[in-house]
Amino acid sequence: MIRVLFNKKGGVGKSSLAVNLAAMSAADGLRTLVLDLDTQCNTSSYLSALDIGDDDSIAALFEQTITFHLRKRPIIEYCQPTSYENLFIIRGSERIKELESELDSRHKIYKLRDALATLRDDFDRIYIDTPPALNFYSLSALIAADSCLIPIDCDDFARQGLYSLQQQIQEIKEDHNESLHVEGIIANQYMANANLPGRIIQELIEEGYPVIADYIPQSVKMRESHQQKSPLIHMAPKHKLTLAVAACYDVIEEQASASEP
Ligand SMILES: Nc1ncnc2c1ncn2[C@@H]1O[C@H](COP(=O)(O)OP(=O)(O)O)[C@@H](O)[C@H]1O
Ligand SMILES: [Mg+2]
Repeated sequence: MIRVLFNKKGGVGKSSLAVNLAAMSAADGLRTLVLDLDTQCNTSSYLSALDIGDDDSIAALFEQTITFHLRKRPIIEYCQPTSYENLFIIRGSERIKELESELDSRHKIYKLRDALATLRDDFDRIYIDTPPALNFYSLSALIAADSCLIPIDCDDFARQGLYSLQQQIQEIKEDHNESLHVEGIIANQYMANANLPGRIIQELIEEGYPVIADYIPQSVKMRESHQQKSPLIHMAPKHKLTLAVAACYDVIEEQASASEP
């Protein structure tokens, strides 16, 4: 199953959740791959993957679709182990910025979908982290994915953003990827003591958005986890932040197993 973490807004928790959900999935015994499509490479840094050579990065993988090679390397060769059992990564690269216009003009938008389809027997779960924009790479990811998780911070712009996001996802579904669906909206950095977040989330639920009932609190543990390059489940398995992410993980996995044939 391929999940993409997407929101055009930055700083909402895409990278944090991609890494932590994937780490939980790996710890749960599922062979899990993380794919870093953001030029900021936060996910790769979080999983200590930036010392993997650029020849094995996502840039090299995309590059071979627009340059001549006698032998194209299959995507599995780009999947590198991390220090955690069952957890693999295709590291990000700033260089994808330079490749974007050529990939786009040469209509390579389905290449990621076709490559990831060959990994379905190798990995039980694939998590894709995306940049905060609907560009060639995030569109490629949404075309490749089975489902989309949308993290939001609970401020007033979150709602407006979601409305246009929902329309764009619907359009991608109609034009490119019939099976794409929004698996859940994840309320991140939720402050239970403030009025506004509660009201915004309530309104979203009333409007029919699939908000996951376990909200993820704001906590300094997230930054510590980034700094220590250690996912929450390994760094602070009992912390309330970890437990909230784990509750979200359980919800999406239960939904996934309910919809599996
Ligand atoms: N629940 C949280 N509590 C506190 N800080 C958080 C939380 N989630 C994310 N952050 C912090 O917010 C910043 C943005 O998160 P990030 O995952 O990089 O967002 P995005 O990938 O959407 O840009 C990071 O510094 C991260 O440590
Ligand atoms: Mg990010």
